[in-house]
Amino acid sequence: MKIAIIGTGYVGLTTAVVLAYLNHNVAAVDKDQSKLGLLHQGKSPIHEPGIQNLLEDVQHTIRFTPSVADVVPDAELILIAVGTPPKKNGEADTRHVEQAAREVAQVCLPGKHYTLVIKSTVPIGTNQRVTEVVETVFSARGIQGNISVASNPEFLQEGLALQGAFYPDRIVVGANSEEAIDTLRRLYKPILEQTFDPPSTLPRPSAYHLPPMMTTDPNSAEMIKYAANTFLALKISFINEIAGLCEKVGADVTEVARGIGLDARIGNRFLQAGLGWGGSCYPKDTSALLGVAALSGYEMPITEAARTINLRQRECIVEKLRSALKTLKGKTIGILGLAFKPNTDDVREAPSLDIIGELLAEGVIVRAHDPIAIENARRALNGKDTSANALLHFTEDIDELAYDADALVLVTEWELYHKLQLPKLAKQMKTPILIDGRNIYSPQDARNAGFHYIGIGRA
Ligand code: UDX
Repeated sequence: MKIAIIGTGYVGLTTAVVLAYLNHNVAAVDKDQSKLGLLHQGKSPIHEPGIQNLLEDVQHTIRFTPSVADVVPDAELILIAVGTPPKKNGEADTRHVEQAAREVAQVCLPGKHYTLVIKSTVPIGTNQRVTEVVETVFSARGIQGNISVASNPEFLQEGLALQGAFYPDRIVVGANSEEAIDTLRRLYKPILEQTFDPPSTLPRPSAYHLPPMMTTDPNSAEMIKYAANTFLALKISFINEIAGLCEKVGADVTEVARGIGLDARIGNRFLQAGLGWGGSCYPKDTSALLGVAALSGYEMPITEAARTINLRQRECIVEKLRSALKTLKGKTIGILGLAFKPNTDDVREAPSLDIIGELLAEGVIVRAHDPIAIENARRALNGKDTSANALLHFTEDIDELAYDADALVLVTEWELYHKLQLPKLAKQMKTPILIDGRNIYSPQDARNAGFHYIGIGRA
């Protein structure tokens, strides 16, 4: 199938390479010349495990261009995967989605049927709005257009993007047109039936079941995306709320999570207490959902509370450090991990940024380590108070991070941090205090290594 994809961010690029791998004929559009420059050289502009190899494998079925007019007339299906950044009031800004739809409608051939698919995360009602935008352009052009607009929300998890695209739990399609549903069913046939040969680095999980393609109305499809993300954010915030109480009453939240997770109705995933959620989705989508609710005059106290608890998790690190070190000013603290989660260099809404910001404001000397996100963190933290920034040092050397430090804070649970030689680190430090913001270490092992160990929600 001939496909045009507008936008080559995480969602657009992952979708493009996966569909190209499934032998669709893919053309991806992006106006960002620096991204296009890399893509033309066969290089991925995003850091995502496996994507570079796959991009090299699909060079013959994929191309990249800055021009919508180049690729849309010929395409059968057009996917919009542009950003929907938050506006000042928290609502999602759909300007880029509407602009993409307008550009598409301007170059569609009269009479030819197209399926226009919205993959970006958008407020409820956007499908209808995009349909109106397209019709306005057609009538201005004086032509009889023939576009079916479908919503196909994306559930991509950074660091696991390809895994999720080849082996999804489900595919959700919201459309009023049978033709659009049929086109999407053909598009995803190899995934729905798992008839493709898995890439060598992405074997099919042994217990994997064929995914259903759920079809529904566009508003419900748009709501499914927000509700799914908000539910996962709630689940994490709930266990973090329990973690706070565990600390007060002398229980261990990791045991509590194990115990409740064994109840099949609850399930054991997304119950890791710690520094809470960051990234480009949960913060933005919970806020956008509240924006949608506000426009309808509807209160959502559970969603509000999930956001409040999430911020409290970040603040509690400074409190834990203060209670362990008494004074913070002039102390040296090492931060292990800057990315919002492992296997990505993405630092958007990362807990590390808030924690570092607060420590710098307290006059702490901060050393920060991450295997791949240092450059992004440096950019994100620039612009903050520059006198405070004189106290901030990035290092790629964990020994340097620990040497003579007053405390270490584990913020991101990178695999390499699981394997640290704790006794060696503890010996290098001035005071061996370890705040384990993701509960990855056994408290006993850390104590045996010589650390004063402080986890989240662990007695
Ligand atoms: C999420 C959704 O998983 C995905 O379906 C959606 O399309 C986009 O948003 P992502 O933001 O990439 O994906 O990461 P995810 O793995 O869901 O983790 C989000 C945050 O929650 C991370 O900061 C992670 O550290 C945190 N988290 C996750 C916890 O604190 N505890 C957990 O148990 C799980």
